[in-house]
Amino acid sequence: MDKKTVRDVNLEGKRVLMRADFNVPLDGKTITDDNRIQAALPTIKYIIDQGGALILMSHLGRPKGVDPKLSLQPVADRLGELLSQEVKMAPAVVGDEVEAMAKALKPGEVMVLENTRFESGETKNNPDLAEKLAALGEVYVNDAFGTAHRAHASTVGVAEKMPAVAGFLMEKEINFLSKAVEDPESPYIVILGGAKVSDKIAVIENLLGKADTILVGGGMANTFLKAKGLELADSLVEDDVLDTARELMETAKDKLVLPVDAVVADDFDKDANQKVVAVDAVPAGWRILDIGPDTIALFKEKLAEANTVVWNGPMGVFEMNPFAQGTFAIARTLAELEAVTIIGGGDSASAVKQAGVADDVSHVSTGGGASLEFFEGKLLPGLGALNDK
Ligand code: 3PG
Repeated sequence: MDKKTVRDVNLEGKRVLMRADFNVPLDGKTITDDNRIQAALPTIKYIIDQGGALILMSHLGRPKGVDPKLSLQPVADRLGELLSQEVKMAPAVVGDEVEAMAKALKPGEVMVLENTRFESGETKNNPDLAEKLAALGEVYVNDAFGTAHRAHASTVGVAEKMPAVAGFLMEKEINFLSKAVEDPESPYIVILGGAKVSDKIAVIENLLGKADTILVGGGMANTFLKAKGLELADSLVEDDVLDTARELMETAKDKLVLPVDAVVADDFDKDANQKVVAVDAVPAGWRILDIGPDTIALFKEKLAEANTVVWNGPMGVFEMNPFAQGTFAIARTLAELEAVTIIGGGDSASAVKQAGVADDVSHVSTGGGASLEFFEGKLLPGLGALNDK
């Protein structure tokens, strides 16, 4: 990575303003998955060990203004437990009281600002808000890879106003993902799934020239199958991108591998009747909800040759157990490979976790949207705003 990191700046005695991605799932006030907090710990501990006074900020959810249900208090509490030290909670994002708290912070102490999206200027990258945030610290660290695709005040505006470097998580994510995008060891296989082709067109276009094979599953495969002329009954299909799907298949030639069979159901329900059929034999009134066993075997055979694998998007409706088998089979297959295996964030990250194999793949990204935009070949604004080496 060509950006400066926390290793390149002196943090001793400095007030360090760090952007993390603490956008964690909540059930009331309970954090149901603290993975993103855990992932920021190496940078947090490093700053504390170096004698920095740490001011942390993040968004949580998509509030329109102040919403107590989306306070970062539960994050501050969890962080305090993980660090076994007091973590102070600011009453707001910016303002006199917050500034006084930040300035009183001693080396090794930690405070968390309120949800940055409580300020309307955050998502607009408002310069006044960026100025107020910058006034809180002396060095800016961005470790929020998951939010690096957003050009917001806390990710871009503030970075332009003070020395700005990457944290260890940002560095690790960029190193893994750029290896897969720029310098993959072949055979290089990309697995794409999820509901919509329209979400992945730019990824396919960018990776087609680099990957040896693209395995397509999930709802998006239906659109390709229909574009080939198959009748898929009640399956989800994006009719408005059938032409694009056809063009992509023409460019891709035989690089694009589609399912040959599917698990179909007579309702979109976990208790619906289900059976396995060939993709050209979906009965009227039924819909495809997962890849079938022959497709799993076909994908496994292709993957056995890979030296690099990138996976983004589930193979079926994996939140319903009867239709999760294709996704879990892919997760387990990746875990057994010798190859470099990189899991894009979001649903695929949650699938490898649920399959119990998150520790057996090379890298599970903490960013869903961010990793997708990276695979599209876009420069992530939060990364772009940091100081070059
Ligand atoms: C995410 O969860 O993907 C990131 O935290 C970004 O959140 P956002 O899509 O609300 O900007």
